[in-house]
Amino acid sequence: MLTIGIDLGTSAVKLLLMDEKGKILNVVSREYPLIFPQPGWSEQDPDAWIRETMTGIVQLTEGFDKSQVAGIGAGGQMHGLVVLDEDDKVIRPAILWNDGRTFAEVDYLNQTIGKEKLSACTANIAFAGFTAPKLLWMRNQEPENFARIRKIMLPKDYVNYRLSGVHCTDYSDASGMLLLDVKNKCWSKDMLEICGISEEQMPTLFESFQPVGKILPEVAAQLGLPDTVVIAAGAGDNAAAAVGTGTVGEGACNISVGTSGTIFISSEKFGVDDHNALHSFAHADGNYHLMGVVLSAASCNKWWMEEILKTSDFSAEQQEIKPENLGRNHVYFLPYLMGERSPINDTNARGTFIGMTMDNTRADLTQAVLEGVAFAIRDSLEVARSLGIDIKRSRICGGGAKSPLWRKIFANVCNVEIESIAAEEGPGYGGAMLAMVACGEYPDVKTIAEKFVQVTKVEKPDPELAARYEDRYQRFREIYPSVKALFPKLNG
Ligand code: XUL
Repeated sequence: MLTIGIDLGTSAVKLLLMDEKGKILNVVSREYPLIFPQPGWSEQDPDAWIRETMTGIVQLTEGFDKSQVAGIGAGGQMHGLVVLDEDDKVIRPAILWNDGRTFAEVDYLNQTIGKEKLSACTANIAFAGFTAPKLLWMRNQEPENFARIRKIMLPKDYVNYRLSGVHCTDYSDASGMLLLDVKNKCWSKDMLEICGISEEQMPTLFESFQPVGKILPEVAAQLGLPDTVVIAAGAGDNAAAAVGTGTVGEGACNISVGTSGTIFISSEKFGVDDHNALHSFAHADGNYHLMGVVLSAASCNKWWMEEILKTSDFSAEQQEIKPENLGRNHVYFLPYLMGERSPINDTNARGTFIGMTMDNTRADLTQAVLEGVAFAIRDSLEVARSLGIDIKRSRICGGGAKSPLWRKIFANVCNVEIESIAAEEGPGYGGAMLAMVACGEYPDVKTIAEKFVQVTKVEKPDPELAARYEDRYQRFREIYPSVKALFPKLNG
């Protein structure tokens, strides 16, 4: 028996084929463009996701016994607004999670409607990347498009819809719309009314590990798969990655270092951070989680390497960083290249190097980029600690987690043990696991996670280095408040 995991990312779709013991048999990655129509805006063509996913599945299964494929499960980039018309055609490009155009709508929601009301209805407040502010933006700026909306969905739900013909979503991903009553797992009538939409326009809600239906016969024929393939509801990419890294159960933690950076704290009970600095979302295992999100994480390093240093050899650059300089860098980097979500919620924030002197080298700035991302994750970790959550260890996943140096920096900046796991494909692996549960091969997410996920390496913090980083982190914390007022002026 085989399942396919889909990780519908921001730069590419990553697919994997897994057997019933959790062994990865094949992986395929296919890129699609990201469109920045204006500074701070971020869009993608949903049909590009479909094209690359379909081609990718054919490539992935080539040479394997396709009749053994029993299920497909996806983890997808969260919050993106996909709108369909009455013929189920996409009305406009999807507006993505890292798009910052909705500051006026976020202001309206947080100030006029009020954070208390939002938090009471949804357990969260408005952030620019969330789906509800984007709907309000469409209503204000593209009224003709808004009037044509028949269905509203999230990115991986559009893929599931094209595979199964079912308008569906799951609780973990729906949590990031600011339209879901997260605690009670139903659409918030008040929020739908505030956004001027009806429940009929919303997809049907499922648990991530539930089947939404079977693959459409014509899609099965096109992919060469059996028409019995079960489509699992799947999850937002962070919840899927948490499943893939075994981050289930009370207090388990995962740090994802992908295009975005997240710290994900699993919980068996519903809970809200009183200041709403951390998101309070449903988990893909049927429970809940808290999450802090850094909008640009591995993407800061990619930008620094490719756009600025004009190199593709990331590890050669990192080898130039002297071990004795860890915790001693006096150059700092604010990683806010797309504004920032947690905990500062500021779309105007921008990337910043500060503290350079004539003796600084290229390697010092590379180090500052890696450290800046880790410090930004620590900001959210500190919010969790202030809520009494004691985190001693965390799993790690995402492209950035492949770097031993970056893992060491995370361990010492956060003062937690960082655990790497055998299967590095977080959301795709989690998606394939959710499909296994949806097919009935395993009874629940906890059981399959205990069976499949193995820790392979542990990076322990070194007390002396962690103390040096503690000092650096306290300096880092002072930078944003000192320059915050400048950003809106710089952005013109
Ligand atoms: C989570 C978030 C990002 C995207 C990245 O709230 O916005 O992590 O899910 O794909």
